Amino acid sequence: MRTLREIPALRETLGEFRRHGRRIALVPTMGNLHQGHLALVETARRHADVVVATIFVNPLQFGAGEDLDAYPRTLADDQAKLEEAGCDLLFTPDTAMLYPRGLEEQTRVCVPAVSEGLCGGARPGHFDGVSTVVSILFNLAQPDVACFGEKDYQQLAVIRKLADDMHFPIDIIGVPTVRAEDGLALSSRNGYLTAEQRARAPALYRTLCQARAALESGDPADSALDDAHARLRESGFEPDYLELRADDLGPVTGKTRQAVLLAAAQLGPARLIDNLTLTLP
Ligand code: PAJ
Repeated sequence: MRTLREIPALRETLGEFRRHGRRIALVPTMGNLHQGHLALVETARRHADVVVATIFVNPLQFGAGEDLDAYPRTLADDQAKLEEAGCDLLFTPDTAMLYPRGLEEQTRVCVPAVSEGLCGGARPGHFDGVSTVVSILFNLAQPDVACFGEKDYQQLAVIRKLADDMHFPIDIIGVPTVRAEDGLALSSRNGYLTAEQRARAPALYRTLCQARAALESGDPADSALDDAHARLRESGFEPDYLELRADDLGPVTGKTRQAVLLAAAQLGPARLIDNLTLTLP
């Protein structure tokens, strides 16, 4: 696997692959890679000839007081994992390279409606930062396909709409959430938890599973969500949101069948998110 740090080198290398008719897959990440990220690389390999991963801790998507500085940077480890997973190219730009005018003057991309509420409500400007960096990476790599995790359900919906609205000729592929054996969705932020918090953390997934079972058996949404809130608090979480939406993130109506339960909750130093899709009776 080659690691490229400069934009011209990336353009040149991918241009050459493209001229030879190779299909290119892009896997954007912020590094500190785990099996969830590697599942994206494996999916990318099945859909393309050349897999390009990117590692960039994007300052535009972090709010004031969030964990930009603390975010784990583990490049050597990440390179070894990507190599092992069969990634062909790694692009690791720095901030000055992607945003040469500085963050204030950077042109931004905003994806209305789907970016609002949920994580977009709790983290103002977050999805503009995501949409901006992903647009830049799409333009630089010009991939045929790009892979994103269903763990970040709203992010995946934002990127699907971004690709659609901006006419990027890129297939967006969603990859199922990879979990630890106890059900906790893998996340770089799990590393912030103490051993005691880590032992409590699977309660988020368990609570979503219980709420899903209640909803699928016809319980009213209000009582299922109230119970879930109470369970999260009992387990030491401070819930941020816990919502039932239609699977396109629109409101649930009497006609909605395919739905999604989404939650974000603070556990000690970590803001954890998870979601489960379900079928309403
Ligand atoms: P990051 O949190 O590093 O995640 C990179 C990709 O890995 C995202 O598509 C995310 O949904 C996916 N992912 C993370 N944990 C996963 C899990 N347990 N199972 C499956 N997929 C998982 O998401 C970002 O970075 C950034 O916002 C980014 C899209 C790179 C833009 O900066």
